Amino acid sequence: MAFELPALPFAADALESAHMSAQTFSFHHDKHHAAYVTNLNNLVKDTDLADKSLEEVIAISFKDPAKVGIFNNAAQVWNHTFFWHSLKPGGGGTPTGALLDKIVADFGSFDKFKEAFKTAATTQFGSGWAWLVSDNGTLKVTKTPNAENPMVHGQTALLTLDVWEHAYYLDFQNRRPDYIQNFLDNLVNWDFVAKNFAA
Ligand code: FE2
Repeated sequence: MAFELPALPFAADALESAHMSAQTFSFHHDKHHAAYVTNLNNLVKDTDLADKSLEEVIAISFKDPAKVGIFNNAAQVWNHTFFWHSLKPGGGGTPTGALLDKIVADFGSFDKFKEAFKTAATTQFGSGWAWLVSDNGTLKVTKTPNAENPMVHGQTALLTLDVWEHAYYLDFQNRRPDYIQNFLDNLVNWDFVAKNFAA
């Protein structure tokens, strides 16, 4: 069965009050994410990868020189779906409960987590992603280039921010730090993070 483009988990204009425009989603979801799905389906068509899960395709194709295009498109399909769920209208602020306790335990404070996340997202040179992950039970902030993601490193993704220019250029132009700050202040879906943390 072909891989499919999942719908956004919110209306395309739902985050406009949080400085992410419907125009951004019309390109980012409807064009970029859709293209990764189309490319992936074309690349695996009539191969033994066509019936694998997306996660299996990512694991099999990682670091295989003959499957670079498959990996890039498969991981970008996964990463974007995960990213949409990392956002919500009225998001941002501070998590609660066991998740907050764990962040404080592993980073020292919630502010220190935010600083680590901002640094990772700002310093990812070129295209990539910033993540909050669980690594053998310890929460860490990481950054990955291009399509790479935590699962290929044996880590569990809890939260991500897309720092490819296509994610922020229409709304923030070259101001990646403002896009990151806005994400932390107004967009993080801590309910999604908590669900991933509890899984
Ligand atoms: Fe993206």
